[in-house]
Amino acid sequence: MVWRSSPAATELEDVTTDWLRQLLGLPAGFEGVINDTASSSSLYALAAARDMAYPDAHRRGLFGLPAGRVYASDQTHSSIEKAVLPLGFGREGYRAIASDSDFRMKPDALRDAIEQDLAAGIRPVAVVATLGTTSSSSIDPVSEIAAVAREFELWLHVDAAYAGPAAIVPELRPLLAGWELADSIVVNPHKWLFTPVDCSVLYCRRSERLVRAFSIVPEYLTPPAGPADVEGRNLMDYGVSLGRRFRSLKLWFVLRAFGRQGIVERLRAHVAMATEFAAWVDAAPDWTRVAPTPLATVAFAFTPSGREGQQADATNLRIIERVNRSGEVFLTHTALAGRVVLRLSIGNLRTTPARVLRAWQLLQEAAAEEGGAASD
Ligand SMILES: Cc1ncc(COP(=O)(O)O)c(C=O)c1O
Repeated sequence: MVWRSSPAATELEDVTTDWLRQLLGLPAGFEGVINDTASSSSLYALAAARDMAYPDAHRRGLFGLPAGRVYASDQTHSSIEKAVLPLGFGREGYRAIASDSDFRMKPDALRDAIEQDLAAGIRPVAVVATLGTTSSSSIDPVSEIAAVAREFELWLHVDAAYAGPAAIVPELRPLLAGWELADSIVVNPHKWLFTPVDCSVLYCRRSERLVRAFSIVPEYLTPPAGPADVEGRNLMDYGVSLGRRFRSLKLWFVLRAFGRQGIVERLRAHVAMATEFAAWVDAAPDWTRVAPTPLATVAFAFTPSGREGQQADATNLRIIERVNRSGEVFLTHTALAGRVVLRLSIGNLRTTPARVLRAWQLLQEAAAEEGGAASD
């Protein structure tokens, strides 16, 4: 809650989020706080953005003020669209920006949308760039998006919930270049950093906005007068929760147990397994990889000739159902460019190359059964 209710928990959150910041190569200006999920972290980041766009919102709310808008690509996770609802912007307060053929936000389309909205009397509030989208792990061009955000003085929030830990791996860090220009960044250790759910770190370089957005201090939470430098942060001021779990402890164990090199080796191994799987898909005549594979998530589909549209979608859904019913692996599906797509994502400490090969065998067996059904 407040520092004095558990100094150790508060201090360990300071320590672990700062260690992680250093591992990620982010500048010291980013202050970290641990939330349950990226959905909460992004909501809080956008609350801070709202405070910047509507400086009197903490007192007056948005009564009588111009409608606000948050921009994100059409590949953005639904948590961003959801976050604008409790902030009072409504669904119309969210504007999806077109992405290119590699599922990356188009910065020109972003600029056009902002200019249109300004001309219509709408107040632009924030831009969200995603590094590692949910469906294909595409990486938005964050430096170009940051330039647009700066031009229009908008808050830039980066959703790196999935891909953030890639920055710990030297050869992968360039993929995230430009994210240090953000006002806030979310990274989920519970996605690709071996930490059990729930553990989401929100980094903010303007924490005073976050605190302004959320701070309400009744008498019973006010520290008695004393030397001001004795107490640390009151984490209740960084979001909606008062009481909070000791999430930093499990992150501390992960960072201490594996260390930088241990983390690098494991993430590298995941990317290598995904890259190998992607090569099998590329080499198989009836299969197509439908997006680049920069990290450890492969988006692909069974695409035999003569099977198009809804028929192809239904086939892929049956394949994934069959594969998952085996109980040996668990894959998920999504939609990309309007088509059903399968995804294989490697992020678990116990996943081995043999298991990934087994997933490929199961997929091919399921596809062979589908092939038979189609020619009947
Ligand atoms: C890119 C991205 N952002 C945010 C989320 C939401 O994460 P959480 O479950 O921590 O709210 C997801 C979940 O899959 C995601 O892929």
